[in-house]
Amino acid sequence: MSSNSENRESWNTRLGFIFAAIGSAVGLGNIWRFPYMTAESGGASFVLLYLFLLFLIGIPVMIAEFVIGRKTRRSPVKALASAGRYDWSPLGFLFVATGFIILSYYSVIAGWTLQYMVDSAGGIITDYDPGTYFDAISTGKRSIFYHTLFMVITTCIVLAGVKRGIENSVKFLIPTLVLLLAGLGFWAFFQPGSGEGYSFYLKPDLSTLFSSSFPYVNVQILADAAGQTFFTLSLGMGAMITYASYLSRDEDLVEETLIISLSNVCIAFLAGLIVFPIIAAFNLQGEIGQSTISTLFIAIPKAFQSIGGAWGSFLSFAFFGCLFLAALTSGISLLEVVTSTLIDQFDISRITASTTSGALIFILGIPAALNLGWLSLADQIAGNLLLMVGGFLLTLYVGWTMYEAGRELRKGLNIPVVGLWIALIRYIIPVVMFCLVLLAFWDISYGMLSDALPK
Ligand code: PHE
Repeated sequence: MSSNSENRESWNTRLGFIFAAIGSAVGLGNIWRFPYMTAESGGASFVLLYLFLLFLIGIPVMIAEFVIGRKTRRSPVKALASAGRYDWSPLGFLFVATGFIILSYYSVIAGWTLQYMVDSAGGIITDYDPGTYFDAISTGKRSIFYHTLFMVITTCIVLAGVKRGIENSVKFLIPTLVLLLAGLGFWAFFQPGSGEGYSFYLKPDLSTLFSSSFPYVNVQILADAAGQTFFTLSLGMGAMITYASYLSRDEDLVEETLIISLSNVCIAFLAGLIVFPIIAAFNLQGEIGQSTISTLFIAIPKAFQSIGGAWGSFLSFAFFGCLFLAALTSGISLLEVVTSTLIDQFDISRITASTTSGALIFILGIPAALNLGWLSLADQIAGNLLLMVGGFLLTLYVGWTMYEAGRELRKGLNIPVVGLWIALIRYIIPVVMFCLVLLAFWDISYGMLSDALPK
């Protein structure tokens, strides 16, 4: 039986697992979502809040997902049916549904990055006004075409299996991404006028985090930072459970979590070191003011356009190439959650499972490829609220029904933090998460109201 944990596939090397998990975490969330949220929410103070939530919630929840995955060696639905005292498979289904929705619109955005790459390579990107170009390519036929292409590439990698497909590709994609980002960061540093960008990004103005009236904290920023923590670490939808289910040896899960989450922070930080100096050096602050999904896709090309020529096109190719590589390694993990669940649930082959899930996700993504409003709604609901709901329920499950969680974590552990982790997962995080879920809900509902009211 292919769902049998004895003949389940596994990673070839420890590094392969770490790269795959970094690949899942590092995605559009780091290069596209992180800088625009930071710009929207007051620069460095947002970064500090995000780091705080990362340590308080993100890292312990990632450890929890790893513990479930390694202990059960199953995909999320089966894992949550058997890891604790009660059968929580409905939560597994919520995870799979969330991954399904996220990949459906994520693939559309990834398709845009492919279009930017192709048009940069063809040297035509700098011929158009970036706003007009974005409007022309972000929805409609061309958007569907590139969404298809992205889903086909992702499906081919997942289809090839854990070792041959995922591990082999991330080992090459992640170092390429880091090199490209470092090169762009180096270039941005030497642009005249970039200094102002660094100070906005690096000097916290703590006043943006508070408000003068009840509840005295800026609730919107808090909700955004929490949502970003879950999204960027790929938590709350079973991706990390799935990847850890392919671990064959008992390695130190805390050490691995630290390596993965800190690499993720470093890469997001590096992306900020590219985006903010470019914005300052090319006077694009006005563009970022009304920050939305399209910000990065319109503002940054303006810089490349003013450089112009082959060099402008090359930089544009490199920048959108980074976005594409990052999106690809995350897309792989999203598809793997759905694929491995189909394999485990229906005992079908990997080829059937990956092509079926790829095709279904492709169809679900079509509305997002036709309408930006739909895309952003799907992002708010699945990429924000559902991840947090999933994370909240997961901590209740691990903290209160999985009595062997501590014993599982202790295997291979060098850093003695089991007691601290259990205290966080049982008592502190569920309470904080419950408040954050309410906040996220309020945030979405309020956003819909203000969209509906006449301006
Ligand atoms: N972490 C990815 C990013 O930052 C997105 C993602 C979310 C991937 C959930 C997998 C699961 O872009």
